[in-house]
Amino acid sequence: MSNRVLIFDTTLRDGEQALAASLTVKEKLQIALALERLGVDVMEVGFPVSSPGDFHSVQTIAKTIKNSRVCALSRALEKDIDAAAQALSVAEQFRIHTFISTSTIHVESKLKRTFDDVLDMAVGAVKYARRFTDDVEFSCEDAGRTPIDNLCRMVEAAIKAGARTINIPDTVGYTVPSEFGGIIQTLFNRVPNIDQAVISVHCHDDLGLSVANSIAAVEMGARQIECTINGIGERAGNCSLEEIAMILATRKGLLDLDTGINAKEIHRTSSLVSQLCNMPIQANKAIVGTNAFSHSSGIHQDGMLKAKNTYEIMTPESIGLNRNNLNMTSRSGRHVIKHRMEEMGYQPGDYDMDSLYEQFLTLADKKGQVFDYDLEALVYMESQAQDDDQYKLQHLMVHSDSTEGVATATVRIAVDGKDFTEAATGNGPVDAAYNAIARATQRQINITNYKLGAKGEGQNALGQVDITAKYNEQMFHGVGLATDVVEASAQALVHVMNLVYRADKVADFKQQIHKERELGGV
Ligand code: KIV
Ligand code: ZN
Repeated sequence: MSNRVLIFDTTLRDGEQALAASLTVKEKLQIALALERLGVDVMEVGFPVSSPGDFHSVQTIAKTIKNSRVCALSRALEKDIDAAAQALSVAEQFRIHTFISTSTIHVESKLKRTFDDVLDMAVGAVKYARRFTDDVEFSCEDAGRTPIDNLCRMVEAAIKAGARTINIPDTVGYTVPSEFGGIIQTLFNRVPNIDQAVISVHCHDDLGLSVANSIAAVEMGARQIECTINGIGERAGNCSLEEIAMILATRKGLLDLDTGINAKEIHRTSSLVSQLCNMPIQANKAIVGTNAFSHSSGIHQDGMLKAKNTYEIMTPESIGLNRNNLNMTSRSGRHVIKHRMEEMGYQPGDYDMDSLYEQFLTLADKKGQVFDYDLEALVYMESQAQDDDQYKLQHLMVHSDSTEGVATATVRIAVDGKDFTEAATGNGPVDAAYNAIARATQRQINITNYKLGAKGEGQNALGQVDITAKYNEQMFHGVGLATDVVEASAQALVHVMNLVYRADKVADFKQQIHKERELGGV
């Protein structure tokens, strides 16, 4: 048996489906490109039948990604498989993933069928998917709670029908490692054609055991792990990719298993996913938490000074976390910035050097010293700005009298290329800025969540504002980053306004198509 474990990333499917605000196509593409660079073998990027937006994003990613296999999800239904195949057909290499529940609880209460009906549906779906590609994956949803005889029958039938990957999900995160490893071992012992498929696992983290269960499974012969960056996903989330990759790398001597993951990309990919998905990472999270490589106790610090391996089983550099002591100021030339970006793993095509340098100089004038995270923040903000942005914040001035609890803000904002200036008061500087923006744009946004944080360390950090807003029953997520937290707040609101504007345009377009269809039908 090969000792290569395939990494199947489902951040953009299982992870994305659990977010409060969906990602835009551009954001999904950014994550897909980061995953490709990270070296995932397969990326599951959506569920095309679920919405035209999902279909479009799967298609866009499928067109762009070359070095990882792109996969889309479908229920065991022909219309789902058709949608997945159509969205993926532009890819160089693709996989169709079809699934149906196999546990008695799901079969009887959710599907209201018999197990034999479900078995027939699974076989039919796999055969149907094979018309489009040789690479078909079949999942037995809720396998962790499926009676083992039924699970063996289902796996054997799906392989016979043509599935080349069989996924065994612990959908509700119920099993414990010895039990889950035992299920995999039984499948290897009892399913006669098991050597014709790769056995995959997909564990949820409801009891905090998703990573342990996945490791138990590979010890028993599973050779694909489904996981997500930072472990995002349904409820308590999925098995986290960075933990799996670093367990297999750090404990290679014990487990003797390899992945194709370029661990140096972990830190950057994790930050990008956290930022775009508006999902902060807990400080003590393994591998990517801010405390994962910091040593607090005096005894530990003393040990570290004497020999790093006293308390460090892997280095921060191994996940691409390079602590930078380089002091960048407005006197730093372009080559310094370019060199620093390269060291952080960015390639020239990832950003526009002219624009980055211009913004760097502006920031350096404001802050004095510029750090790595500032450069990354500038690149991130630039990636969020779109050429067709309807609203652009040009100027913001705020006067606040905190003793009286009133503030006044004046904003100049470009709306479709035309400048509008307005002033308004509020109960604080952010409130006043938001009221002035509402006046200038004639648009009121219902903010459901406002979060102020910091990007970077200490007094030199940038203010980061994340807001979530509800519009026409849809959730939108806007981000602002600036040295001034009121400016960051205004940027976040303008970001949401541009997203809402685009969503309105899409809705108008759909309505127009509907009308044209109706007229055509008369
Ligand atoms: O958790 C699960 O069972 C799933 C399947 C669709 C693979 O996400
Ligand atoms: Zn899942």
